[in-house]
Amino acid sequence: MPADSGSDVTLDQARTRIASLRRELGRHEHLYYVLDDPRISDAEFDALLRELQELEARFPELVTSDSPSQRVGGAPREGVETRSHSSRMLSLDNAFDDAELVDFDRRARELAGAEVLDYVGELKLDGVSMAVRFGGDDMTGEAVGAGSATLLGEAATASRLTLALTRGDGTRGEVITPNARTLRTLPLSIPASVLVANEVPTEFEVRGEVVMPTQAFADLNARQRAEDRPMFANPRNAAAGSLRMLDAAVTASRRLDFYPYLLLAAGQPVFASHWEALEALAALGFKVNPHRARLRGIDGLLAFRDEWMGRRESLSYEIDGLVFKVDAVDLQRRLGATSKSPRWAIACKPAAQQAETVVEDIEVQVGRTGAVTPRALLRPVQVGGVTVSHATLHNEDEITRLGLQIGDAVLVERSGDVIPKVVRVVRAGAGRRPFLMPSRCPACSAPVVREEGEAVARCVNASCIARLKESILHFASRTAMDIDGLGEWLVDAVVDGGLVKDFADLYELTPEQLAGLTKETKVSPTRLGEKNAARVVSGLESSKEVPLGRLVFGLGIRHVGERTAALLADHFRSLDAIAAATTEELEQVEEVGPRIAESIRTFFGTEMNRDLIERLRRHGLRFREDAEDTSQPRPLAGKVFVLTGTLAGMTRDEARARIQEAGGKVTGSVSRNTDYVVAGESSGSKLRKARQLDVAVLDEQGLNDMLSVGLSPVAKD
Ligand code: IVH
Repeated sequence: MPADSGSDVTLDQARTRIASLRRELGRHEHLYYVLDDPRISDAEFDALLRELQELEARFPELVTSDSPSQRVGGAPREGVETRSHSSRMLSLDNAFDDAELVDFDRRARELAGAEVLDYVGELKLDGVSMAVRFGGDDMTGEAVGAGSATLLGEAATASRLTLALTRGDGTRGEVITPNARTLRTLPLSIPASVLVANEVPTEFEVRGEVVMPTQAFADLNARQRAEDRPMFANPRNAAAGSLRMLDAAVTASRRLDFYPYLLLAAGQPVFASHWEALEALAALGFKVNPHRARLRGIDGLLAFRDEWMGRRESLSYEIDGLVFKVDAVDLQRRLGATSKSPRWAIACKPAAQQAETVVEDIEVQVGRTGAVTPRALLRPVQVGGVTVSHATLHNEDEITRLGLQIGDAVLVERSGDVIPKVVRVVRAGAGRRPFLMPSRCPACSAPVVREEGEAVARCVNASCIARLKESILHFASRTAMDIDGLGEWLVDAVVDGGLVKDFADLYELTPEQLAGLTKETKVSPTRLGEKNAARVVSGLESSKEVPLGRLVFGLGIRHVGERTAALLADHFRSLDAIAAATTEELEQVEEVGPRIAESIRTFFGTEMNRDLIERLRRHGLRFREDAEDTSQPRPLAGKVFVLTGTLAGMTRDEARARIQEAGGKVTGSVSRNTDYVVAGESSGSKLRKARQLDVAVLDEQGLNDMLSVGLSPVAKD
């Protein structure tokens, strides 16, 4: 039955066709996402999906939760609901060196009464654990409505994903079923025939790790930064945050993979060996991590570990060690578990770049937005060749979580360029004292308030001196107004001396005032001097010419990052137009959503800020984007583009710049106003949307052709 076979389709015909479409789509999702072996083009896949969606729209009574059409994230979860796990979700004990691994093997052999043990070696994926149940009557509020005898019939021939839980406290977890359904590497249902063939009961549970691939994490953070939203510290946090979104559509928009590592029924292993369980999971269509091996005795463990020492970097996701499990399930039972972890498994972790030291004090810093953040002052210690004397503590909750007090001995960790962090308290200090978040700002004495539901405490005073200093440093920074010579001590001096109370005051500083400012140094106070003063004044003068976007960024409007500011300038062409824009108009700009629009409106709606703008205008700052250069050809004038996927010959930013140079506009989402979608490698939902809306799709060559000659390579239909 073709997709457009009109309205004469009977319910029975629809049911048959829907079943066959679901089978086909499920097979191709598995080929694409799990096996990395696509057999049909995106377009063919989309055509099948569209046909399914159309049929389901016409026969809503045939929609089921395991339909591939449901991957986009349905209705938001309502609040946080928890459920009991079928058996405790344990964690793993760690072995940090050879001796600890040898110890683990010895104890296991003794308890198991075996000369030598067979193990399975796996990667310890650094994500969040999830338990997923299939089959049974664990329906989480979904309607299996009346007249669905056939649906039940259908369900009887397949086990559907019915419940997904986070690990929670190990006993109860949060219900995240709608979110789990959006993970393409997690089957939505498994045909009964497949279960029978693999000797898996119709009701079973899979536990595993949800991870965000490193590239997806980098892309997500780039987007977060662009939208001036909080960035994620690492892929694990990003995976956890994405999975627990109340709105599953957000989960769907993030790339998350599920790797199973346990197969259970009624909370107990299904197979006699762990290896068989992993093989069965693969046969059921799960993405079992391929880097696994059967190992014999301690030599096998050590060899697997040595092999993986150097290979870690080659993976497209993060791991935080390896896991070794006793293979035979009867021996696992004999070994049992402690209250926290099984005695038949161990995590083998590389010794991180960590060191022990003492927290001598905890101080707070006041940022540009008034955020008051605590940081630990440490007794200086060498960590991986670098002296560390500070560590970030993020916020009060983090200090509570760590159970940290001033004077405690702590383990600090440094990884890459990241600011060192406190991992845990090693020993309580003798004269330890708790840290109290000051109730008043250390800089201006205004109240520090932590709003309900917020992790961050803030100084409420908009003209707090510490906030002012941070704001001016931001205004003067290289990516904003780029004011040469206006560094930290000079900002301290002009603010403390009462010369500068806002950005506009900077432009009223005279060379004489500046030259007379003194800096306290270890040796003796030093004057800034005429020469340096002249440099600052000239820096201020040239800053008047920076492009509008940099000025908008420098103003420090909440949630308006460097990129958003540039996009705003590009769209509105003048500061006055941005200031006058309505929220709807602001939201026309790529990457500007309601939150950013609201924040811009609030900024320009504040009288003090409007006065500031007028004073900056009088000082001659550039408030307009340059008139368009008409000497250049603008073949793409008026055309609206959306970029998706990875291009081979240029980055997305380069593509954007080239399109803009040629007069085109680049927006973030596909709509009826989009003229072209440029689709690179692994384009996803945007490409599908383009097809749905019949928007013309270009490949990279097509874009290049347009940029060079301005001819339309595809007829827009
Ligand atoms: S087995 C009873 N295998 O590591 C066995 N866990 O502290 C429990 N993890 O929260 C876990 N990769 O989410 C196992 N291949 C793997 C794993 C793995 C990552 C996580 C798991 C658990 C934590 C252990």
